[in-house]
Amino acid sequence: MKVVILSCSPRKGGNCDILTSAVVRLISGAEVYYSRDIECSPCDGCGYCERAGVCKHGDGAVALYEKLLAADAILVIAPVYFYSFDAHTKAIIDRAQYLWHKVKDRRIPLYLIACGGQSGENNFTYIQKVLVSCGLAIGGDYKAGLFFPSTDAVGDILRGGGVERACIAVQDWGLSNN
Ligand SMILES: Cc1cc2nc3c(=O)[nH]c(=O)nc-3n(C[C@H](O)[C@H](O)[C@H](O)COP(=O)(O)O)c2cc1C
Repeated sequence: MKVVILSCSPRKGGNCDILTSAVVRLISGAEVYYSRDIECSPCDGCGYCERAGVCKHGDGAVALYEKLLAADAILVIAPVYFYSFDAHTKAIIDRAQYLWHKVKDRRIPLYLIACGGQSGENNFTYIQKVLVSCGLAIGGDYKAGLFFPSTDAVGDILRGGGVERACIAVQDWGLSNN
């Protein structure tokens, strides 16, 4: 099973990076992409893709979507920014619009691990909905998430067994083959 991990934090070495480094070791053959490294022009709603079936921006976002379309499962690891994804990752998600009318014949599983500085699970309501919507575009079915509230400063995820819980979730979700 080909698992693609999309790791979304703009902050290098932060909580999502720590989680990514831990869980990738459990998934042999996993491909990891960091959204901050992906060159991406924002979607401007030009409608070119509706006519041509491809996006006019031939940048890193298209290359990423080629990888995601070849995956059997996708794990997204993200910080919550204003209840959603950070702006750069959201720009990448918007670019999935070119796939909206194309991919209908597959439903691969999508999973989310998210960190947020605020306490409580409400922080994670909307980021899940954004991922559900992205799944509709790319042929993915949002299955489950694991959420870490009160996780703000770099390394907060190391308190309270967060990394261990993420590793258990990856195993429970059937993504681990190590
Ligand atoms: C611009 C910005 C917006 C944020 N918005 C939220 C938010 O809406 N809810 C929340 O719980 N945390 C919010 N946070 C806190 C981050 O989610 C938190 O620091 C997280 O641990 C960052 O993950 P990282 O260390 O992987 O970058 C925000 C942080 C930034 C910088």
